[in-house]
Amino acid sequence: MCGIVGIVSNKSVSASIISALKKLEYRGYDSAGISTLINGQIKEQKCSGRVDNLEKILFQNPSSGDLGIGHVRWATHGVPNQVNAHPHSSEAVSVVHNGIIENSDTLRNEYKDKGYSFKSQTDTEVITIMLTDFLKQNDLINCIHKTLKKLEGSFALGIIFKDYNNLVVGARRGSPLAVGYGHNENFIGSDSYALKSMTNKISYLDDGNFCILYKEKVEFYNSDKKKINKEIFELSYEDNTAEKGDYRDFMSKEINEQSYTTKKCINEYLNTSKNEINILNLPLEAKKIRKIRLIGCGTAYHSCLMAKYWIEEFTSLDVDADIASEFRYRRIKLDPNDLYIFVSQSGETADTLAALEKCKKNNLKTCGIVNVLESSIARNSDLVLPIHAGPEIGVASTKAFIGQLTVLYLLTLKIAIDRKDISSEEYSKLILDLRNIPDLIEETLNKQKDIQEIARDFIKAKGTMYLGRGLSFPIAMEGALKLKELSYIHAEGYAAGEMKHGPLALIEDGMPVIVLAPKDRFYEKTISNMQEVIARGGKVLMITDDTSETMSENIRFKFQIPKTNSSINSFLLTIPIQFLAYHVALLKNCDIDKPRNLAKSVTVE
Ligand code: M6R
Repeated sequence: MCGIVGIVSNKSVSASIISALKKLEYRGYDSAGISTLINGQIKEQKCSGRVDNLEKILFQNPSSGDLGIGHVRWATHGVPNQVNAHPHSSEAVSVVHNGIIENSDTLRNEYKDKGYSFKSQTDTEVITIMLTDFLKQNDLINCIHKTLKKLEGSFALGIIFKDYNNLVVGARRGSPLAVGYGHNENFIGSDSYALKSMTNKISYLDDGNFCILYKEKVEFYNSDKKKINKEIFELSYEDNTAEKGDYRDFMSKEINEQSYTTKKCINEYLNTSKNEINILNLPLEAKKIRKIRLIGCGTAYHSCLMAKYWIEEFTSLDVDADIASEFRYRRIKLDPNDLYIFVSQSGETADTLAALEKCKKNNLKTCGIVNVLESSIARNSDLVLPIHAGPEIGVASTKAFIGQLTVLYLLTLKIAIDRKDISSEEYSKLILDLRNIPDLIEETLNKQKDIQEIARDFIKAKGTMYLGRGLSFPIAMEGALKLKELSYIHAEGYAAGEMKHGPLALIEDGMPVIVLAPKDRFYEKTISNMQEVIARGGKVLMITDDTSETMSENIRFKFQIPKTNSSINSFLLTIPIQFLAYHVALLKNCDIDKPRNLAKSVTVE
C-alpha cells in the first residue's frame, strides 16, 4: 500500500518522479504528492485523487529542483484528503512513507508536550516532527538513526532535508524499498518496476537499514549505523509487458494473456523430451513430507484452496490451506516435517510475508510461489517457484491466478510422482491434458461475447451467489471476489451443498446465481442444488462442459466451456467468471483497473 519514490540527479526531477508515481499507482490512488528542493527551500505540492491531478497542479505551477520525493497514497490513518496526502513537511524536512507507525499516538503526545503542533491526522507526520527535532542537535546520520529507533511498526521512507541539498535518504523496516543506479543520478522506489524506465541496476534495502543517495554514489547503513556494501542486480528487460497496448484497460489485456501465461509457465517447468517437471531441490524430499500447508491472501488464497483439492486428489498427503492473516496469529502446531508454501503475486503482501517469517523463525521448510522475483517473499523462501506471468497491473488478479494454478498443479504432480502416489501412466496422461490447457483457454477466451450479454442481468442485482462443489468450489469463491471488488455488488462464493444450511433463504425471484457445474463426480449433486435455487426463483447462469440440452428450459443462460480432464476444469471455469466481473463493472462504469478502496499490493496488515 502506498508507493514512494525519490530521485537525486543533475537535472530537474519532477517529471521523472511523476512518471514513476504513475507506475506505482497500483499501490494506492487516493492522493498523491511531491516535494523537491529548490534554492535551499522545500517545495511541497499535493492533492487528493490520482497522479493525473498532481500532474495538472505541476503543469500550472512547475517544480524544478534536482532532488525530490513523491508518493501515492492508500489511506490508513486519516481520510484521503489534501492535508493527509504525503509528503509531510516541516521547514527542515519532507517525508514520504509506506507502512504504518504503530506507536504514532504515543509519539504524537510526546512531541505535542515538547511544543510541536501537527497539521494532519496521519501517523507519518510524527516522523517529520521527530527528524526536525533530532536535527537540532545531531548530524544527519545520528538524526536518522535516532528517529528510526523510536519507530514501531512498518515503514519504507523517502526523506529530503532543507540543509542537505545533495542527497535523498531511504529507509525500510517491513515495507520494501528498491535502490536504482543511474548515470549521475540515483533512485529509490517501492519496487523495481517503478524504476525500470530509468535503470536496470537495482539493489534492495534490507530490513532495518537505511541509505543515502547522492547523484554519484549510494551509501548503505545497517541498523547500528555502520556502513555496509550492497550487491547490485541487473534486471532483465524481458517481460516488459506492462503497457496496455490496444486494450481498453490492463484487466482485459491480462485476462486475454492467460493462454500465453499458462503456455509459458508449462514450458518453463516441463522438460518435454523427458516428460519431467523441473522442480528440483524441494526443501523437503517429497517422500518425507508429512503435510503441506498453503498460505495466501485473497485470490492467492483461492489458488491455495485449489491446490488443496489437487493435493488431496493426487497424493496421500495431508494438506491445509490457510488465510495468511489468520495463520500468522494462530497457535498452529508447526512441524519441521511439513512443507509451508506461500503464494503471492506481488511477493510483498504483509500478512503472507509475516506468515513466512513466522515459519522461518521456527526453522521450517518454505517455498514461495510468486510473480515478482525480486520480492521479499521470493528472497526469504527456501525455494522460489516463479509463475512467469509478467507484470500484472490491474488490481484484480487474473493472469497471476492462472499462473499460480499452473505452478501449483505442476508441483502437485511432481510431488505425486516422486512419492509414487500416482502411476507413471496416470502422470503422463495428466501432463498431456495440462499441455492442452493453453489452447482450451484460448477457445474459452473467444467466447467473451456470450458473457457480455448476460452481464446486464447483474447490474441491478442486490446480490448474487457463486455455487460450486469439490474442485469448482475455489473457483466459486474466486468468482465472488472478482465481482465484489470490480463491480461493488455483494457476492458470496458457496459450496453448493451448504445452501440448505442457511444461504438458500437469500434466494428470491429474479436473483442471479452462478452455478459452476462441470461434468465431474460432483455434477449430479450440483445439479440438485441448482434445481433448488431455480425452484425459488433464482435466475441461473450455468457454467459447464455438459453439452446436453436437459437443463436448458430451466436455466437463464448456459456458458459452455470445452471438455478436458475433470481435475483441471478449474482453469477453464476461471475465464467466464473473470469476464462476468469485468463486463458488469464496465456496464456500471466502475474503474476497472483501480477499484475503489483497494490497492494492488497490500503491504500493511
Ligand atoms: O500480491 P498477492 O498475491 O499476495 O495479493 C493478495 C491479494 O491482495 C490479492 O490477490 C487480491 O485479493 C486481489 N485484488 C484479488 O483480485
